[in-house]
Amino acid sequence: MIEFIKRLPKAELHLHIEGSLEPELMFRLAKKNNVTIPYESVEELRAAYDFTNLQSFLDIYYAGAKVLITQDDFYDLTWEYVLKCVENNIVHTEIFFDPQTHTERGIEFATVINGIKQALADAEKQYGITSAIIMCFLRHLSQEEAFATFEQALEFKDDIIGVGLDSAELDNPPSKFTEVFKAAKDKGFKLVAHAGEEADYSYIYEALDLLDIERIDHGVQSINSPELMQRLKDEQIPLTVCPNSNIELKVFDSYDEHNIKELLDYGLNVSVNSDDPAYFKGYMNQNFINLYENIDLSEADVIELVKNSFRSAFISDELKATYLAQVDAAV
Ligand code: ADE
Ligand code: ZN
Repeated sequence: MIEFIKRLPKAELHLHIEGSLEPELMFRLAKKNNVTIPYESVEELRAAYDFTNLQSFLDIYYAGAKVLITQDDFYDLTWEYVLKCVENNIVHTEIFFDPQTHTERGIEFATVINGIKQALADAEKQYGITSAIIMCFLRHLSQEEAFATFEQALEFKDDIIGVGLDSAELDNPPSKFTEVFKAAKDKGFKLVAHAGEEADYSYIYEALDLLDIERIDHGVQSINSPELMQRLKDEQIPLTVCPNSNIELKVFDSYDEHNIKELLDYGLNVSVNSDDPAYFKGYMNQNFINLYENIDLSEADVIELVKNSFRSAFISDELKATYLAQVDAAV
């Protein structure tokens, strides 16, 4: 089964590029850029990755991102993730980035996007990996600040396929960002949002009805509303689920309690994603392997999860058909 998981071509739809910053690269960039990190060693830093909830992770994640300064740093960050894609047989990836995490520190929007973009272009050239970039607004900041970022993004409209919403979910509901999502839709951006990760399913309703999003990131709390489950099934709204993340951030106490199999068995369009793999103990394949080892995922389940990610990707119908045929061939 593990060989089978590794062999399948996969798509990733929920990956924060800042969350793929491995401790080794963090230390290297800290040294190069003269940024202090409050840990003595890679081992000590890794040991600090012991989270109690989303906020406890975000504190460390935003602190870590401070080592990213130059366009080359963003290139190196993204390139390391590209190499993980090769290792994990990810042939298409749609990556999130958080511009405000960097512009707040005086880094230019262009520095960030150009570094990411160049690495993704090289990924396609060297490995044939296709990709897209989604810019997320930080929901702990105001809608006004999101609008300022949105204005900056317009210059890079051709490089950014969509907008998303991430960071501290509790007390920052989707309704806080209704107007900026409307503006993004008007400009033709695809829309996604983190919803129902830690907060209850009412956030998923808001994301669907007020923000008009096309995919829900996480969405695991939908299980608590039969009516919402039915709607998600009828409309086949994709849920980009991140199993390791949910365990590391204590959304579920253990893998035994993770509900991905129930969501899948009910007929929802769920996929497997790695979220912040450098912080959550593993990339795409490890997420599948953990599910297989803990909740007895069948081969048919794995195939469905993998196919769902391609079906839900922001790519043409032709490319979807090509990738789905590659999955069938690998099976
Ligand atoms: N930013 C990075 N990872 C996140 C997550 N799992 N939830 C919300 N915001 C995030
Ligand atoms: Zn996420």
